[in-house]
Amino acid sequence: MQNKTLQSRFLLRPEITFLNFGSFGACPKPVFQDYQRWQLELEQEPVQFIAVNGIQYLKQSREALGAYVGAAADDLVYVPNPSYAVNIIAKSFDLKPGDEILATNLEYGACDKTWNYYCKKSGAVYVRQPIELPVKSRQAFIDQFFNGLSDKTRMVFISHITSTTGMILPVEEICEIAKSKGLITFVDGAHTPGHIPLDLGTLKADIYTGACHKWMLTPKGCSFLYMRKEYQYIADPLVVSWGYDSAFPSHSRFLDYHQMQGTRDFSAFLTVPAAIAFLEENNWPEVARECRNLVQRNAPRFCELLKTQPLCPITDDFIGQMFSIPIQTEQPEALQRLLFEVYKIEIPVMRHDARVFLRYSINAFNSQADLDRLYSALENILATTDFIRLPGATEL
Ligand SMILES: Cc1ncc(COP(=O)(O)O)c(C=O)c1O
Repeated sequence: MQNKTLQSRFLLRPEITFLNFGSFGACPKPVFQDYQRWQLELEQEPVQFIAVNGIQYLKQSREALGAYVGAAADDLVYVPNPSYAVNIIAKSFDLKPGDEILATNLEYGACDKTWNYYCKKSGAVYVRQPIELPVKSRQAFIDQFFNGLSDKTRMVFISHITSTTGMILPVEEICEIAKSKGLITFVDGAHTPGHIPLDLGTLKADIYTGACHKWMLTPKGCSFLYMRKEYQYIADPLVVSWGYDSAFPSHSRFLDYHQMQGTRDFSAFLTVPAAIAFLEENNWPEVARECRNLVQRNAPRFCELLKTQPLCPITDDFIGQMFSIPIQTEQPEALQRLLFEVYKIEIPVMRHDARVFLRYSINAFNSQADLDRLYSALENILATTDFIRLPGATEL
């Protein structure tokens, strides 16, 4: 794969081998132009934009997003990022001392911190259920996860695609089982929209958050919170503003609470229709399939080079457009800096608890040559420095 046409449509610096789409995405030119068009309109007549037309603009954008993710437009609100959505829920949820939130030990750090903070405040317990790596199968994962269940569990909180370990998790089965046990389900799908198919109509998640500024290609600061109607009443506004006790309430308290957040530039939220049009015009399911193939084809040789094992089976069940490799290094931050400064490779080297992972992401602008460059950089670093330690072949 080397889609030169698509490559030329991104704004990324050509001299950088960009293997870190997973952190903040990257926005293609037509979508970025749409963003600037909205910003210009805002500054040309701020009052009309923010106070008069904004509600209708946001509605149109939510309708497009709803059609894309299989949800009613009024069950979605835009938020700047997924951890904002997690904060809305964790702060609002009526946690009693002893209540438990069941998660895994693979969740994203900022969300872990949020749950820890609010659980600690209320005397509840945030359960980071340990998942043994490598994961053997979807069923093995599900069994381990529900070993963390107790009669105190109130909610299941789980990533759809994990951050540092880059794995697709079996959230369909997990939500199904959790619902059969009467639990509320909250899925952190920061990496999902635009990456793997998402249908909130069939997934039994009561609450879901996703980022549009990652794999859906919008500019930064565009994410959403979805709540099934019957749970919307639990969510307090994170910022209390005019939508609380509104003088002009709309048909939805959920929208009033979370959409009216004082003066702000919501242009990024309005680019969702342009981003969806870009994905459709460029046959994104096919682009994503090619990227996934490239990710998976390369996985074994990276594991071999670093003398490690994959964290899960290298199949579509677990691996999309990211692959995370356990790496032994005492200096992850310095290694990441070295890769960027000397080799011009943008790739994250991330700590997670006591371990470190190197994660490559592949999108439309990447090619085999990018992964070959990463491979030779790692070979060179292994041969000339002591940044990376090689474990025994069976040690993970
Ligand atoms: C699994 C997961 N959840 C949530 C987020 C949200 O990140 P933030 O709110 O810090 O932008 C990320 C970002 O990478 C993520 O990987």
